[in-house]
Amino acid sequence: MRKFNIRVNGFWRQVITEPSRVLLDVLREDLRLTGAKQSCDRKGQCGACTVLVNREAVKSCLKKMADLEGAEIITIEGLGTPENPHLIQEAFVLAGAVQCGYCTPGMIMTAKALLDRNPDPPDEEIEKALRRNLCRCTGYRKIIDAVKLAGRFLRGEIEPHEMRPDLSRGLIGVSMPRPTAYLRACGAAQFTADLHVEGALEIAVVRSPHHHARIDAINVAPALKTPGVVGVMTAKDIQGTNRTKYLVDDQPVLCEKKVHVLGDAVAIVAGRTRQEALAGAKAVEVAYEPLPAVRTVEEALPPDAVQVHEGQPNLCFSHSQIRGDVERAWQESAAIVETDFSTPLIHQSPLEPEACVAYLEGEGDEAELVVIGRGINIHHHAMVLREALGREKIRYEEAYSGGQFGIKLDITSEALAGAAALHFRRPVRYVPSLTESMWMSSKRHPMACTLKLGADRNGRLTGLEVDFTLENGAYTSWGSAIVLRVLQMLSGCYYLPHVKAYGQLVYTNNAWGGAARGAGPPQMNYALESAMDLLARKLGEDPLEFRLRNSLQPGQSTSTGQVVEEWPFPGCLEALRPHFQRAREEAKAYKGGKIRRGVGIAGGSFGIGKAGPADKSTVAVELDPDGGLTVYGSVADPGEGNDAMLTQLAAHAMGLPPEKIRLETRDTDRTPDSSSASGSRVTYMSGGAMLMAIEALKKAMSETGADTHQDLVKAGKPTRYEATKTQETTALDKATGQGVPYESRVHGAQMAEVEVDTETGDVKILKMTAVVDPGTVINPQVVEGQIEGGLDMGAGMALREEYIHGETKDWVSFKFPTIRNSFETETILIETPRIKGPMGAVGVGEFVLLPTCAAIMNAVEDATGARVRHLPATPKKVMSALGEKKAGS
Ligand code: FES
Ligand code: FES
Repeated sequence: MRKFNIRVNGFWRQVITEPSRVLLDVLREDLRLTGAKQSCDRKGQCGACTVLVNREAVKSCLKKMADLEGAEIITIEGLGTPENPHLIQEAFVLAGAVQCGYCTPGMIMTAKALLDRNPDPPDEEIEKALRRNLCRCTGYRKIIDAVKLAGRFLRGEIEPHEMRPDLSRGLIGVSMPRPTAYLRACGAAQFTADLHVEGALEIAVVRSPHHHARIDAINVAPALKTPGVVGVMTAKDIQGTNRTKYLVDDQPVLCEKKVHVLGDAVAIVAGRTRQEALAGAKAVEVAYEPLPAVRTVEEALPPDAVQVHEGQPNLCFSHSQIRGDVERAWQESAAIVETDFSTPLIHQSPLEPEACVAYLEGEGDEAELVVIGRGINIHHHAMVLREALGREKIRYEEAYSGGQFGIKLDITSEALAGAAALHFRRPVRYVPSLTESMWMSSKRHPMACTLKLGADRNGRLTGLEVDFTLENGAYTSWGSAIVLRVLQMLSGCYYLPHVKAYGQLVYTNNAWGGAARGAGPPQMNYALESAMDLLARKLGEDPLEFRLRNSLQPGQSTSTGQVVEEWPFPGCLEALRPHFQRAREEAKAYKGGKIRRGVGIAGGSFGIGKAGPADKSTVAVELDPDGGLTVYGSVADPGEGNDAMLTQLAAHAMGLPPEKIRLETRDTDRTPDSSSASGSRVTYMSGGAMLMAIEALKKAMSETGADTHQDLVKAGKPTRYEATKTQETTALDKATGQGVPYESRVHGAQMAEVEVDTETGDVKILKMTAVVDPGTVINPQVVEGQIEGGLDMGAGMALREEYIHGETKDWVSFKFPTIRNSFETETILIETPRIKGPMGAVGVGEFVLLPTCAAIMNAVEDATGARVRHLPATPKKVMSALGEKKAGS
């Protein structure tokens, strides 16, 4: 131990600690300055922990106290507050660079050091400074814009008030800063691991080192002798079903007799500190009998294959779709493309680890188990926990969320922390490592498909035949729903008179798939839109005209037989046309030589809502005594801007200023069930339900002549009104895959401009242009932010990202896209108000990913003539495709 004097945010502090302790821990644990975050297991990969040390941007997770005596330290809390933000914090908010906000404090501190050195840095210098600060939400373009805007503020060229939107002329279509943006930019938003819980035990989890093994015995005695360990629990200590059940009860909280995948949880060790709990977890002795592991679909499908779950076939779900007669389609076809495609297992990669806090509120059997995490379906999660843990009284509270992208449609750490809080009857904190977070969360399913697509001599699509397999991994999560989502959106933007499809879901002893931004359709749309280009090429057709001619029209039906009333896709292609012409003209100059330039386009259509029929959301509103309005609904906001959507719609509908709208969205005890923040459904479903509740309130006010809360009370009317919006949709028929899955959709088209190095196989994205028609745009900056972030994620999926269970352990091994991989983007918004959308709006967050991979791979073929069909298109695969093309020509 040693005493250190450090000056933190202008105040001298004495810290008595080990010299080897890192600054991040001292700031967060001793000084309770939790603005600096950690994401990468302190490996210096994420930049979320950046602070200023003696005016330099420093990763506080790497800086030992031994080197800090007398140091001047500035953290995000030392810059400004939500009420009085620093100009850089203002710039990040006003430029729309804050989504989940987990990366934001680190970004801002890095920007501060840069702007202190050079108040007018060029783009290259900004990119260089931020090259080790990761962001998963924004795609980095708005972060670069924010740093430039901050420079202008600091140089006195412009003031923040000049950048604020004029809210006096209406709130719809206005880029109002999100209500929580300043909290996030100032490090004041509390994420789960930021919560200090007095007397809390820290827990660590004993996890399987095997992909498949029988558990013969668990000896906890050595762990109990470890200093600081308070107790150990195993499956037998859980009172409920010990299953986290979404669709199928195949996933244990703690494994009983068998482990099904590397990283499966076997025991929980509680300690006074995290280090002590981890030491205890290491000491638990588990006797495993390793079993043969099924690591691929090919190994899983033979009749004599090892069964991942005993008594259950590895082929655990399948579904077909039949429309018309594909044999007739092939007879009528002048050209047919028949090929295969695949997409890999991908981690959704939110920066925040899967942290959870759990404690008992109240006494004895009446005590309520409170679970705090970043779930996006908190009422459902509370129900899953009730069954799993055998505790009726459970409250789920949503903390601020450092992104999720589908992961948090499942619970991850909540059942473990909740079980521990119940068993040890003490508050519990569980802050797993990044590797452990990867092990305990679902992934994007890998998909493999064969696809046949035909067109007649007039260039009209005749038919589509698809066979696809999603590798389920060890647990089902939402797997069968993902197969259905693929079928629900199978025909994409197009009219296909004849369709035959079969999808299957296959267990393996691998990381399991679940909800992942778009969940299924991005994988299949990549295949379909790639085949559209191949077919256009075969017919000698222009890819844009070919898509335009084959677009579905209102009155026609999708492959599920659903007749659509609105279909704004052709308008998106028309908006893209001049950009496509410009880009192709420019690319002509780069057709020979080592570096070739190519341009590719792709379309997408995405159904709004959950995969099941009759999707529902309930929201309540209450007229407050001071004339404001409180909105109650479990509407999660993991970074997309749902807070802005609800506030702007409500303020507009009530004729109130936005600051009079209060949101109560985070707590199961205080909200009605608005269901999940998934399927891009929040604007359409919860925004819609909120407007219905406001209508009921306004009707009561007008019937009684009431202007205020007090008038309503006097008239004997309630001040709170609740409404439920329900989609008029049906399940797909099991035999034919026909049905009405979605009331509304979002449409768009994208264009990729790429350069391919034909000697190395490197693909550089120069620019992505995205045309999106999300109906009425409520907040253009929020929508643009979603689009830019989605493009970045789609580019990662196309070119870099692959999660290999057991090998991918951190952000470097995952190849997380950095600012160095970012590219120019242009967003074009078309507003065709949707018939049933709230004020004509639908959501956009997941759709964006649909066309991106195909647009990029179509551009690569345009540049080189070579086609990569199996993603990610690494330089090696591009070189091999170039080699195949050479050999074939
Ligand atoms: S926590 Fe310090 S760089 Fe990631
Ligand atoms: S805003 Fe950057 S990680 Fe979410």
